[in-house]
Amino acid sequence: MIGDQKVLFSGMQATGNLTLGNYLGALKNWVDIADEYLTFFSVVDLHSITVRQDPAELKKRARTLLTLYIAAGLDPEKNCIYYQSHVSGHAELAWILNCFTYMGELNRMTQFKDKAAKHADNINAGLFTYPVLMAADILLYQADVVPVGKDQLQHLEITRDIAQRFNAIYGDVFTMPEPYMGKAGAKIMSLQDPAKKMSKSDENPNASIYLMDDPDTVIRKFKRAVTDSEAQILYRDEQPGIKNLIDIYSASTGKTPDEVVKEFDGKGYGEFKMAVGEAVVSVLKPLQDRFAELSKDKAYIDGVIKNNAEKAEYYSMKTLRKVQKKVGFPERIR
Ligand code: TYM
Repeated sequence: MIGDQKVLFSGMQATGNLTLGNYLGALKNWVDIADEYLTFFSVVDLHSITVRQDPAELKKRARTLLTLYIAAGLDPEKNCIYYQSHVSGHAELAWILNCFTYMGELNRMTQFKDKAAKHADNINAGLFTYPVLMAADILLYQADVVPVGKDQLQHLEITRDIAQRFNAIYGDVFTMPEPYMGKAGAKIMSLQDPAKKMSKSDENPNASIYLMDDPDTVIRKFKRAVTDSEAQILYRDEQPGIKNLIDIYSASTGKTPDEVVKEFDGKGYGEFKMAVGEAVVSVLKPLQDRFAELSKDKAYIDGVIKNNAEKAEYYSMKTLRKVQKKVGFPERIR
């Protein structure tokens, strides 16, 4: 809470091409609920360098991501859309919170274990303390709600644990954040291996739908999606490929899984896959058109970046100064 306003914070990494998972699991929900909150949507570039990045590529991707936030329907006049690296409070609060987080807690994080296994030659301290930086992002703005996909729930839990620990010592400093997940789409799976989540970093391009995929590519990828030989469209764990397609169709159209099952009762997989592909194309097309338009307007995007960084800085400082005072840092003399 800031004053009497409920706050929403969320962010994404610019480490690859955004997938349909990122859109249906997060970005779409941001747009759906943004109006109810004072919002902060960050391009979390500090998080990105926990894995080696090509600097020019990172910079380009960060701008693309920021532009995509707007293309997806977030109005930057109302929603604070900014680069995490432009607001120093994130790193400063993360340092303080590091001193209130235990190694044992961080050791349990499944994302750390996965990423450490994937980048065995670069298991840096930043990768380990990544969830603390995420906690700082959220707590810095006193966020009440954090819309994320399922894979981020463990990071939300540790954020709450850190906040609780800090509040127990220093009084009510931080708002307790709650995760928000949509009815469908919280975990979109790979189209090639429905046991794995759809991921920006998947090496097989057929496994993911990218937000910038053209209609033909989208349809082709859905046609090739791995299913099963059951020949029935049912929403159940025994048919993970079909279940995933139902989730995608459901999140793209707003229909419930039950309604989708009824709609395709007795129909073949080929017809169903086509329908899912078309539903996704009609979600992506307007976003792509708007993105192309926005990308041409350099001055506009630059203005958004500048103004919103100032706004984020203003709100973040309120919390940071309070925290610094609580832990006993001397006040500034003016
Ligand atoms: P990131 O960049 O990996 O993903 C961005 C958002 O997309 C969701 N997501 C998915 N949802 C459904 N199905 C999928 N297959 C799928 N893949 C990704 C993620 O859950 C996420 O909501 N650590 C975060 C970024 C972050 C953040 C934060 C988020 C940094 N600070 C503070 C919220 C609040 C991350 O790497 O997300």
